Amino acid sequence: MQPFRAAIVAVLTLLFALQVYAANDVQARWGLTSSQYQSEFDKFVKNGYRLNYVSGYANETSKQALYAGIWEKRASSAWQARHGVTLSQYLTIFEQLRSQGYHPTLLHGYPVNGETRFATIWEKSPVDAWEQRVDMSAAGLQGHLDRLTPRGYRLTHLSGYDVNGEARYAATWEKRESVEWFVRVGQTAIERGNEAGHLSALGYKVAHVSGYYVNAEEYFSVIWEKGTIKGQGAYWLDAHRLFPDAFEEKYDLYNGLYGWAPKVINGYSAGECAIKYSALWEKQF
Ligand SMILES: *[C@@H]1O[C@H](CO)[C@@H](O)[C@H](O)[C@H]1NC(C)=O
Repeated sequence: MQPFRAAIVAVLTLLFALQVYAANDVQARWGLTSSQYQSEFDKFVKNGYRLNYVSGYANETSKQALYAGIWEKRASSAWQARHGVTLSQYLTIFEQLRSQGYHPTLLHGYPVNGETRFATIWEKSPVDAWEQRVDMSAAGLQGHLDRLTPRGYRLTHLSGYDVNGEARYAATWEKRESVEWFVRVGQTAIERGNEAGHLSALGYKVAHVSGYYVNAEEYFSVIWEKGTIKGQGAYWLDAHRLFPDAFEEKYDLYNGLYGWAPKVINGYSAGECAIKYSALWEKQF
């Protein structure tokens, strides 16, 4: 009887651990106004959570910004986050935080009522060298990729956004060891879908995705990386063009049922008052 009981306890413990993982360690919120987002933010921070990811997007009806955030209960070096800032405010924040020894891990641009706003995360962990550029055209981004990639800089975050009907990019790099990676910039949904199966079959996984809407067309920029490092791997799923209901269903399935952690919840407004999500979930094994 003893081994049997031990097995039951082990199974229950595992279930409990999964439950705790899904329910407590990584938490996401979306569709929040700026003040709702701030109050969730404050609550999470008070309870020892660290913001991993944030995206901003417009509610075209109210002409106000909405936010999606992903928080994780984990130890972290000092970190800072801002949202809803203009480019000139951001440049001031950039100089301040840089001079205090922080480096950026995320810079997300989004249009609200004809003006560009930014959300950002910085942290004070050891880093070799880093670069960040904002307000680039696709050609400008390519120029920086051509310059930085051969010098060992890994693109860690990329955000596409519309400025007066043209795509603009904000990109963040860190000079560090990395598995093989590459980025696809400004793909249509069809281009993105066409190569996804092929790349996964070759052992690549999506590390980051940005969805955005320019001139009545949805675009996706995707950072891919080799999925396996020394026998470690991950289950992952990226999903795009999801209306809020469809996104919520996928969230409940992949996070609620399977316990996969959200890594990206990128909202964007897609015309005609439509809000859509591009998202990424992952579970390490
Ligand atoms: C967008 O704004 C409108 C008008 O204020 C509101 O009725 C609607 O619920 C908002 N949508 C979201 C997703 O917050």
